[in-house]
Parts: sequence; C-alpha cells; structure tokens
Amino acid sequence: MFHYFDELASTIDEARDPRYAPGDVIVAGHQTAGRGQRGHTWSSPPGENLLFSVVIDSSFLRADQQFMLLGAVALALVDTFALYGMDARIKWTNDIYIGDRKITGVLIDHSLCSDGRMSRSGAGIGINVNQRLFDPALPNPTSMALETGMEFDRHEVLGRFHKCLTARLDMLHSGAHEELMRDYHSRIYRLGVASRFALPDGTLFEATIRGVAPTGELMLDDGAEVKPWLFREVSFVIDGNFKQAII
Ligand code: BTN
Repeated sequence: MFHYFDELASTIDEARDPRYAPGDVIVAGHQTAGRGQRGHTWSSPPGENLLFSVVIDSSFLRADQQFMLLGAVALALVDTFALYGMDARIKWTNDIYIGDRKITGVLIDHSLCSDGRMSRSGAGIGINVNQRLFDPALPNPTSMALETGMEFDRHEVLGRFHKCLTARLDMLHSGAHEELMRDYHSRIYRLGVASRFALPDGTLFEATIRGVAPTGELMLDDGAEVKPWLFREVSFVIDGNFKQAII
C-alpha cells in the first residue's frame, strides 16, 4: 500500500512505525529532517523529487546477508533508470550514479532478531527527478531532468521502481544470490579502473576496484594485494578536481 504525505520529518523514520506492514511505501512531497548516509542530511526542494521508504520483510535473511538486500534495492534502481534510457552504475555501497554524478541516494535501516536473523528493513530512497538547480556545495549531483532534458511524472517513476524492486526481491527470496551478485558486479561504478580513495584521517591512496564481496566489503587492489574494505574504513574521491564526494 502506498501512503502519501505532503510533508514528513523523514520517510525512513516514519517507516519504523509498526503500523506500516512489509510492502508498504511511505512517500513524502517534502522532508523537514531527511537523513543521508554517514550522518549527513538529505535535502530536496518540495515537489521536485522522489522521497520515499519501502518497508521490507527481511526475516528470510541472516544478518550476514544484509548486503544482498542493499544490492537488490540498488539493482532495482539501475533497472528503473534503464527503462528511461539511462545507464546507471552503483557507486559502492549504495549511491546510484550516471557518469560521475549522483542521481540517487539510498539509506537502509535494519532491525535484527536476537537469533541473528534479520527481521524488518526500511529502504529509504531519494531519487533526483525534476530538480535542475542544486546547492553548489554539493560536489556532483544530477537528476533525471538534467540527464535527459525532460520532465518526469514522479508517480510513474515510483510505480516503475516498485515493479523493478518486486522483481529483484523475488530473486532474493528464491535464493538467486549468485545471480544478484553477478548483476551487482556488472553495474559497479569504476570497476577495474584506477581510482582515488581516502582513509578516515584524510590520507589519499590510489587503488583499483576488483569487486564487492557478498558480505559487502569493497575489494581494492593497491598494486601489491587485493584487500577487503568496510564502509567506514574508506571513501571514494571523485576524479577530475579530486574534490571528495559527499557519500
Ligand atoms: C545518501 O546519503 O546518499 C542517502 C540518502 C537517502 C535519502 C532518502 S530520502 C527518503 C528517505 N528518508 C530519509 O530521511 N532519507 C531517505
């Protein structure tokens, strides 16, 4: 069921309310306290973009399989953009990029059971749809409108995404994990291309992405060895002006 609000603090916080059941989608025209990754805020002008969260029953997954859910959501977004002729890539872990620009951010909240299984997840998604002017402080934003020169019906985009997500979640349910990971790999941003990364203390280093482990670690090849990196251990630095992306 779709639940529409003109304004909410944050759809992902709203999605935690037990009155919403798995499958429910909470959509806001505007968020007053939108949340992004790594403690960032997510702001969006009213009525221009898609701001929503999907409640997902993740109880069929073990906690160490939670990256699969993130992968399914990211792939559903890539599938959606393909329907509009846009060639999207997944910037590890869960940004969606067109070229070197971010078009969508994803934030996932999970609740876990005491037995180590997943219970319920909320996938919060912000798709830049019709926004054409962005805060210059954002390093690399884009939108569907900027990429194509067209305006989009946000309701239709949401409907198409919902179908794509259902298909990807069906794959997850049926245990097609290898196929999902193969698809995820084929859409990784800058796979096999030397890129710059930053450590939390700001130290920069160059490495090449060789893949992503099924548990979500980024496999980086620094020329000497291929090592797994966790989300909090490393961040991408966007090429060109080497300005660090907001991630
Ligand atoms: C990111 O930092 O890239 C993740 C952004 C996620 C934004 C979406 S908008 C809908 C949902 N509600 C929120 O407060 N955040 C997510």
